[in-house]
Amino acid sequence: MARKKITVAGAGNVGATTAFIAAQGQLGDIVLVDIVKGLPEGKALDMAQAGPLCGYDCKITGTTDWAQTAGSDIVIITSGMPRKPGMSRDDLLAKNTEIVKSVAEQVVKYSPDSFIIVVCNPLDAMVNAAAIVSKFKKNKVMGMAGALDTARFAYFISEKLGVSVNDIQCVLMGGHGDDMVPLARFTTVSGIAITELIDEKSIEEMVQRARMGGIEVVNLMGTSAYYAPAAGAVKMAEAILLDKKTVLPCCAYCDKEYGVGGYFVGVPVVIGAEGVEKVIELNLNQKEKAELAVSIEHVKELTDKVKKML
Ligand code: LAC
Repeated sequence: MARKKITVAGAGNVGATTAFIAAQGQLGDIVLVDIVKGLPEGKALDMAQAGPLCGYDCKITGTTDWAQTAGSDIVIITSGMPRKPGMSRDDLLAKNTEIVKSVAEQVVKYSPDSFIIVVCNPLDAMVNAAAIVSKFKKNKVMGMAGALDTARFAYFISEKLGVSVNDIQCVLMGGHGDDMVPLARFTTVSGIAITELIDEKSIEEMVQRARMGGIEVVNLMGTSAYYAPAAGAVKMAEAILLDKKTVLPCCAYCDKEYGVGGYFVGVPVVIGAEGVEKVIELNLNQKEKAELAVSIEHVKELTDKVKKML
């Protein structure tokens, strides 16, 4: 069986880390592509030279030539401007729409049968842009946000309770913005609802910290996070490549689901060999529904702006 091929667009912090984690997971051969000559080549060479030490033997190529990405199974789009302190994810809209558009055109040209996983911000609007430009089937285009946001929420809970992060399962919905909706009611520690273990005020503080998880890192180091975002993207790629039927929240196309009406937004899904194979519809209570509606409205507003730019 031929090895799988994964292209990572953007050789910055998120892209390079994504390639590195994918290599360590031996998910396939990796092409790191960027417009800055020397950067993808250098990072790929360095990563390939870590292979004998880390134990992976996949082929890692760095290039500025999209032709080398031809026939990829998955393209992970990390290209775009990261946030600086004081910026919201939405401030990146115009610049990153332009970048995602040009990347998606290359994906269509060289890997028309691939899956697209978008990582750049403002996430949900960029996924919509990639879907519109590529015209790929909706289940083949998705965005990485929920994996990251739930990982942050899980980490805060594990710290609070002094339990393993591996035992925590979170659900979170909505856009990848300050109004995302972590769902404490569906969040458990090995099946025990966190509402049984943590007081309401502390849960609310952790929900708020998860919502602001991205900017907390930006404010500390002056640029966007990359280890956890990259790990989230690789988890999704792995779910597709290994047909794992992984259940996690991601930015996926919803029409009738949750009454969204034809936009990509964050929802719990099943990811396998067909990409987003199913959107899981939860019975939300009034408060959760109201919070989700605000977040979805925000995604729609940004997406409609993006549509005018394409
Ligand atoms: C974050 C960026 C990647 O949440 O959106 O860290």
